[in-house]
Amino acid sequence: MQVLVIGPGGREHALAWCLAKSPQVSQVYVAPGNYGTQSEPGVTNIALEVNDHASLIDFVKHKNIELTIVGPEQPIAEGIRDQFDMHDLKCFAPSQAAGQLESSKSFAKAFMQRHNIPTARAFVTSDICEAIAHLEDVTLPVVLKADGLAAGKGVVISTTRGAAMETAENMLSGQAFGQAGRKIVIEEFLVGEEASFIVMTDGKVAVPFASSQDHKPVFDGDEGPNTGGMGAYSPAPVLTSAIEAQVMERIVNPTIQGMAIEGNPFQGFLYVGLMISDCEPYVVEFNCRFGDPEAQPVLYRLKSDLAAMCELALGDGLVGTELEFDSNCTVAVVLASGGYPGNYQTGLRISGLNQTQQHTKIFHAGTRSNGEGEVLTSGGRVLAVLGAGKSTVQAIDRAYARAQAIQWKDMHFRSDIGSKALGR
Ligand code: AMP
Ligand code: GLY
Repeated sequence: MQVLVIGPGGREHALAWCLAKSPQVSQVYVAPGNYGTQSEPGVTNIALEVNDHASLIDFVKHKNIELTIVGPEQPIAEGIRDQFDMHDLKCFAPSQAAGQLESSKSFAKAFMQRHNIPTARAFVTSDICEAIAHLEDVTLPVVLKADGLAAGKGVVISTTRGAAMETAENMLSGQAFGQAGRKIVIEEFLVGEEASFIVMTDGKVAVPFASSQDHKPVFDGDEGPNTGGMGAYSPAPVLTSAIEAQVMERIVNPTIQGMAIEGNPFQGFLYVGLMISDCEPYVVEFNCRFGDPEAQPVLYRLKSDLAAMCELALGDGLVGTELEFDSNCTVAVVLASGGYPGNYQTGLRISGLNQTQQHTKIFHAGTRSNGEGEVLTSGGRVLAVLGAGKSTVQAIDRAYARAQAIQWKDMHFRSDIGSKALGR
């Protein structure tokens, strides 16, 4: 079978690498991919952008591709699954309607309230006077969220009433996030430890992946502005098997059932961003896709055939199936461009990629070839360097030892990825 992965980043490199291992898969295409996907055996890049749905559909028809997997949220929010359906092409991603769990935070919040799914209490408004009145007597800190997609930047935590009101004004006026901020969710601040729990679902049954934990703030100790994720590890010991069972029972299963009952069956990867507060799980956010960088440490451990599971999800169903993971721990450290998540330079030559070290793997995110055998930076998050080991400590040591050899001008990374797992 031939498979197409849509997306440019580290998550898509991990998906493509994982799919290429399947004995059923003869060829993986990635649109547009990066230097890492292009260098992977059995994987070929194809120069099509993620939002060019018509050309992607033409390519899939032309090559007789049997399965397409969508990496990022944008094409899902723009209805790529619905368009593939119209052409009778198999696409593992939720429909535009089901994707509202991520593309509209007010939709997700109202859905969770209707189905008694544990999440922070919230107030939704499009009106600045209402927002100000609500903020007058809300408990601090308070969380303000732009309703629509804002490239991971649409959440602001305010510790003073004045700052919260200013943020509300900036969002609702359209100044901060354009149309995405014209409606906001004002939410209670949850205290606890975050974790990522990802499942794949056929719309009726959900099958969980191994747990993981992201590191969103740019600097060590969770300081500084949020990024797309500076590193992740798997498993996340904060998600004990008892808490995982609660997450399935109180969150994942009611979500899948609720979406189906409401006429928006959710097929695809469902990412539940959790806050574990006093050993109880609460939903911080839903994403309608695999996490990035969570995909790298989670998929590295996957022993099951991902392509076969996606086919089942779109066909006979996932009932009675499960995903198997090896017992290793994995840690992926993101190497980022100087200045990221703010402005950064691209086109810088990366050295040290060719050294090999056992039990490590480099997943590329923002890289490209200069056509002369050199690898150049082309994004904010450039590489995720993964180490695997019998313990998280060993995985951390291996990842950082491998990262040490890699260099480009102004590169930076966090030095504490995985450390939260060590205390447990
Ligand atoms: P989101 O994009 O909704 O995942 O939010 C980005 C980040 O903001 C999360 O990873 C959390 O660190 C933080 N956050 C969001 N909502 C809350 C909340 N209700 N309480 C505490 N922190 C939150
Ligand atoms: N790592 C967070 C996300 O994929 O949204």
